[in-house]
Amino acid sequence: MNLEQIVRDAVAPRPRVARPIIVVGSGGIVHDAHLPAYAKAGFPVAALVDMNTEKAQELAAKFAIPKATSSIEEAIRYAPADSVFDIAVPAKVIPSILRQLPDGAAVLMQKPMGDTLAEAVEILRLCREKRLTAAVNFQLRWAPNMLAARAITSSGTFGELHDIEVKVSVHMPWELWSFLSTAPRLEILYHSIHYIDLVRSWFGTPRSVYAKTVKSPRTPSLAATKSVIVLDYGDDKRAFIATNHSHDFDPEMQQSFVQWEGMNGAMRARMGVNLNYPIGLPDNLQYVLRDGAGWKEAAVSGSWFPDAFMGSMGSLQAYVQGEADTLPTSVEDAIDTMRTVEAAYLSSERGGTDLPLAE
Ligand SMILES: NC(=O)c1ccc[n+]([C@@H]2O[C@H](COP(=O)([O-])OP(=O)(O)OC[C@H]3O[C@@H](n4cnc5c(N)ncnc54)[C@H](O)[C@@H]3O)[C@@H](O)[C@H]2O)c1
Repeated sequence: MNLEQIVRDAVAPRPRVARPIIVVGSGGIVHDAHLPAYAKAGFPVAALVDMNTEKAQELAAKFAIPKATSSIEEAIRYAPADSVFDIAVPAKVIPSILRQLPDGAAVLMQKPMGDTLAEAVEILRLCREKRLTAAVNFQLRWAPNMLAARAITSSGTFGELHDIEVKVSVHMPWELWSFLSTAPRLEILYHSIHYIDLVRSWFGTPRSVYAKTVKSPRTPSLAATKSVIVLDYGDDKRAFIATNHSHDFDPEMQQSFVQWEGMNGAMRARMGVNLNYPIGLPDNLQYVLRDGAGWKEAAVSGSWFPDAFMGSMGSLQAYVQGEADTLPTSVEDAIDTMRTVEAAYLSSERGGTDLPLAE
């Protein structure tokens, strides 16, 4: 099969017949990504819930959703019994929402899975206690260019992959998220968490982590917004993430990509959403083989925002309906992304190896 065909066939999991969705939270990400993705995928949304009723009502009117309420209980009474829950509220609030859901429900919750590993462990405990089929919305792996990269690699075209590099040098307008102005953990917990989860989806959970996350003098009131994270997979593989969210010089020179290297070729996927945020540039996927033909661009259509959000919801729904064998971002897997995030913060706090004396 040729590469173009492989790229065309790379699609995210989805249910044969989609279940209704009850969305809890009617904020920015639900407006920008969840609802546009569900509209595109044809996933029905039965109800929107927000503690701010007006926000839920406004969004419901915009996306023609039949019910808007501030009460989860009321949404549950209104919506069909097999509805799937989609939680998109600040991480601290997730446990209180989970406690209100029926035992055995199917739930997708926004990342991060808690602000700390201790909170993630509490969320995991609650999910187990209530027998929830629960996944975390680590959707980057279902962006069209990431699916295409996976499909090309699975075809064996590049041979064994041994190197993954994530590079983000952009201007991020942090002021758009008021709740981040006082967050003690910022860049790794809210951004690099996606890249950590993505690298895990390729190389598995790392043995250990070396990291340094630092504040930017351009945004002195915020917590650290620039990070370097090395994920240790032993001596034969390299994986690192380098992010600088205050590189506000010429947009032409800003960068946001994932790069993979295999024995026979390499790929580079642009994550356009980080460039000129929130308008963004389109995603793409470039690749090169050792055939002398140079770099080419794969015919990928769609971008991380909002297309990947069809994958996170589609994967959960396909799994609860018994149409998929695995739930890749289940809370049981996501806890390892949270452990990796925690390790990165611990590494940064503890510091590196002291220089040996030169005697
Ligand atoms: N790529 C991604 O996956 C991605 C991108 C952006 C944000 N997020 C995550 O999504 C979550 C929400 O982000 P946002 O940008 O939409 O924030 P936001 O502040 O715009 O919206 C959050 C909404 O939750 C509501 N809310 C808070 N507590 C509630 C409660 N107890 N019950 C019902 N509603 C409640 C608020 O009223 C608000 O409307 C955050 O955890 C964030 O990290 C994920």
